[in-house]
Amino acid sequence: MLEPGGPLRGTRVLVTAGPTREALDPVRFVGNRSSGKMGYALAAAARSRGAGVVLISGPTALKPPAGVDLVQVTTAAEMYEAVTARAAASDVVIMAAAVADYAPSAAATQKIHKDQDLMTLTLARTPDIIGELGRRRAGQGKPLLVGFAAETHDVLNQARKKLKEKGVDLIVANDVSRIDAGFEVDTNEVTLVSADGEEKIPLQSKTAVANHVLDRIEAMLPARTPALK
Ligand code: CTP
Repeated sequence: MLEPGGPLRGTRVLVTAGPTREALDPVRFVGNRSSGKMGYALAAAARSRGAGVVLISGPTALKPPAGVDLVQVTTAAEMYEAVTARAAASDVVIMAAAVADYAPSAAATQKIHKDQDLMTLTLARTPDIIGELGRRRAGQGKPLLVGFAAETHDVLNQARKKLKEKGVDLIVANDVSRIDAGFEVDTNEVTLVSADGEEKIPLQSKTAVANHVLDRIEAMLPARTPALK
């Protein structure tokens, strides 16, 4: 077997994956269709390149890749805590998770019964995790920040906007309205959007897409100073 010898070898990579679940009451939650497959593929591929990988995952049905340090979370607030506690010690942070943007402002402590015809939920914004990492990192090059843009329309413009607004290095733009790409399926087609321009990665397995994303990350990593002898 080839020894992994590329730029990711010996680096610390943090990957988030999967959906978050925001409780409405003890038996229900607000969630989304993310399966976690793209994030798990990225974690496995980074590990095979010799990185030390922490995978912070929302609830999924997937088996964690071998050799990866798994941290399981449920809510966006828990993911925020888990990521912000570890980001400064990471060389690369890849936010592949589909984090809820809104959560019920207060979860009912008991099951909600159907005693009304119409029901109104009050939702409150959750923290923008990668946006916060972008702010904390301002002026420093580390960690390299990679976000995803899950879009149903105007994909590239939204991705360019997120690249700027979140202050990140790379956005992996994903059209989640397709049936053969994005949520749940084993294949994906993405566009890598960075300050240097855009690169379309045609439809292929999520593992192959993960390797394209990591190739790009390796090309963006600052050359590392060899340890002093
Ligand atoms: N993200 C995050 N924290 C959130 C929401 C999203 O860190 N509370 C990250 C996602 O993991 C992804 C990127 O931000 O890497 C973009 O997520 P997306 O859902 O496409 O966009 P939002 O930032 O949520 O913006 P909008 O919903 O307005 O499109």
